[in-house]
Amino acid sequence: MIKPVKGFSKLTKEEKVSWVVASFFKNNPDAESIIKRYWNDDGALQQLHDEFIENTISNYYLPFGIAPNFLINGKLFAVPMAIEESSVVAAASKAAKFWFDRGGFKAEVISTTKIGQVHFMYTGDKSKLDNFFSQVTPKLISDSKSITKNMENRGGGVMSIEMVDKTSVLENYYQLHCKFETLDAMGANFINSCLEQFAKTFKSEANNFSDFSEDEKGVEIVMSILSNYVPDCIVRAEVSCPVSELNEDEGVSPNEFAEKFIRAVQIAQVEPYRAVTHNKGIMNGVDAVVLATGNDFRAVEAGVHAYAARNGSYGSLTHATIENEVFKFWIELPLALGTVGGLTNLHPLVKLALEMLEKPSAKELMQIIAVAGLAQNFGALRSLTTTGIQKGHMKMHLMNILNQMGATASEKLQIVAYFEGKTVIHSDVVAKFNELRAV
Ligand code: MEV
Repeated sequence: MIKPVKGFSKLTKEEKVSWVVASFFKNNPDAESIIKRYWNDDGALQQLHDEFIENTISNYYLPFGIAPNFLINGKLFAVPMAIEESSVVAAASKAAKFWFDRGGFKAEVISTTKIGQVHFMYTGDKSKLDNFFSQVTPKLISDSKSITKNMENRGGGVMSIEMVDKTSVLENYYQLHCKFETLDAMGANFINSCLEQFAKTFKSEANNFSDFSEDEKGVEIVMSILSNYVPDCIVRAEVSCPVSELNEDEGVSPNEFAEKFIRAVQIAQVEPYRAVTHNKGIMNGVDAVVLATGNDFRAVEAGVHAYAARNGSYGSLTHATIENEVFKFWIELPLALGTVGGLTNLHPLVKLALEMLEKPSAKELMQIIAVAGLAQNFGALRSLTTTGIQKGHMKMHLMNILNQMGATASEKLQIVAYFEGKTVIHSDVVAKFNELRAV
């Protein structure tokens, strides 16, 4: 067992690397060389990455790929995706091309409200608290002016502050439930700064509120924090075409395809085990673009899955219908994103990704990302309900298997050619590889 380390954060980067190599790799130089091989030669760029987080010892690469031909509201995009999973970019590109030929994707932002809460405990007369809240609200707003001024000048800011009585679920528990418009910023810092100011004003004003008894004055602020649940920050993306145009897959009639596809969506609407995987496929597309554009994928994940369970059981984020011989497939999901602030101005690849997307507003990025999720789900369901997922997936995975086995370029060429038109099964790849090496 290793020993606890004191003052690790104070060590230099070299010292941290040495500690890791000594503690976990018996000073094996290979370990040190792997860690350092990922350092960037450009010292300034490396320092930038070092300073994104704490205790950095190296960089962790993810492939940065491009899915072209996304026609969204009549405008063409090549979508940057940061993801390690094979098949995802290929599936997105294939779905983009499929829908490009059928009029593309339509997307609209339905709402952009973000939420933050001050959670507090109050023991006393509820009517006095109500009265206090009405009197203190203007001061909550005016005391936070230095924080909100710039955002207000741009058209955003604090939209409302409501006091919510939560004592039926937890004794003495109340909250200030606040709504914000943060425009092109994700807004976490803005919202949290506002909330902390609200909490400070609320507490100090409560202490001076003459109607409160001494006990009532002792409002306890528990915490002030934004919510990643954003059911009023919603984007919708859609594709549709006559059923007769769903004619890509040989051996399946467009009608059969559409009906089976809709059944697959219905299953994900009623069956949580399937819904989680169905939505995971959507998030393959969503997260990849969220990451490439420097947004917080954990926040998006948490909010999206809570939204998928908003009716009390976890279900599909996508929906599909056939009406009047027209197939319609759409997604609705909450996305709190930023295209200014945070990593967007700092990380060179993020800046590049946003430039490729023609510097979108947060609303435009919401649309692009919803489309990426919808495209991904279309690709997955199309494979699942026709050929099965493994055919395409293992084909893409073939290169990973070959790399793992240390295949040479010429071996890769021969093995890829051998599996052309065949289903790739891991054990068959190993057998073929061994066969080649044996000769
Ligand atoms: C794999 O990463 C994603 C899928 O499982 C999604 C799905 O089943 O819909 C293929």
